[in-house]
This record gives sequence, structure tokens and C-alpha cells, in this order.
Amino acid sequence: MKPAIIYTSYTGTTHAVAQKIHDACGGDLIEVKSWDLLSRLFMYFVRRSPDMQVRDDGVPPMAIDLSGYDLVVIGTPVWMGKPTMAIQKTIAALTGCNGKPVILFATCGEDPGTTLPVLSGEVKTKGMTVAGRFSLSQKEIADGAVIRDLIANVQGFGGGQ
Ligand SMILES: Cc1cc2nc3c(=O)[nH]c(=O)nc-3n(C[C@H](O)[C@H](O)[C@H](O)COP(=O)(O)O)c2cc1C
Repeated sequence: MKPAIIYTSYTGTTHAVAQKIHDACGGDLIEVKSWDLLSRLFMYFVRRSPDMQVRDDGVPPMAIDLSGYDLVVIGTPVWMGKPTMAIQKTIAALTGCNGKPVILFATCGEDPGTTLPVLSGEVKTKGMTVAGRFSLSQKEIADGAVIRDLIANVQGFGGGQ
């Protein structure tokens, strides 16, 4: 089974998790990025910070057609306890997603806030079924156990076969 792995990442943490899922399970990596006011403001400050780097990759949120996929994985950084605008706009524009299972993940400093419940509500309005939800703090990412559980969840749907 080929999963679509859709995510946004500004400083690389969510990208690294998405890449690990892709390495273990295959499928297509689709990185999105939006240029809403908060995102542009954030990128402006990161670009001026000597120890932080902003990723330039990512296509603008658009109508991604999921009819060729049996499983969808969606990942976002947590911004002020919520999913980013980029991923919310992307979910709103998804097509061919009705009835598809989706596994959600969020990366954060330490507190994911309402990110996963908000994402769950948004994918459900698109007719998708939530098949897994994972939040990964910096500590949990370093530990690796939650990433292994996330990958096992994707592989449980036949990802990587
Ligand atoms: C604007 C902004 C708001 C954030 N808000 C939160 C937050 O509410 N809770 C939290 O634990 N981390 C928060 N963080 C930290 C990020 O969620 C965390 O560093 C994330 O893994 C970054 O992902 P990325 O490198 O893929 O962009 C915030 C970061 C930014 C830039």
C-alpha cells in the first residue's frame, strides 16, 4: 500500500519525522507551505536567527487528489497549541479523500494543545476516518519510541509492502 505523507515543516523537525515514515513505509512525501501572515512573520525572524534555519521547500496548499492512495498520513508542527495554517488550508482543499483512513501526527516543544483534536475534526469533515493520532515532543522524538509506534501504525495498513 502506498501512503500519501502530507506535512508542513518550517525548521525541519516535522520533515525529519515524515522522512522516517517514508524510509520505512514508502509512499509519496508531499510538503506544503503557506505564506499567511503568521508564517511569513515567523520565517522572517528565523532567517535572522543565527542558530535556526528555515526550510524553503514546500508547495503552496492546493487541491491534492488522494484518489490513488489507500492511506493518508498528515503531519504538522504545533503553533500556539494548534495546527499550522498551511496544513489546515491543505486539508480543506483535499479531494478524493472521502472514506480514506488517515493517521495524524504533530511535533511540538512539549505541549501539543488542541492540535490533534482540531486536525481530527477537520479531516472528519472531509469524510476521512482517523486511524491513529500521535504527538511528538522534542523529548519523545529524541527517545524514538513514539516514532516507532507511528511507523508501526502505518505499516499496520500495509505501508511498506
Ligand atoms: C509560532 C510557533 C508557535 C509554537 N507553539 C508551540 C506550542 O504551543 N506548544 C509547543 O509545545 N511547541 C510550540 N512550538 C514549537 C514547535 O511546535 C516545534 O518546535 C515543532 O517541532 C517545529 O516543527 P518544524 O521544525 O517542523 O517546523 C511553536 C513554534 C513556533 C514557531
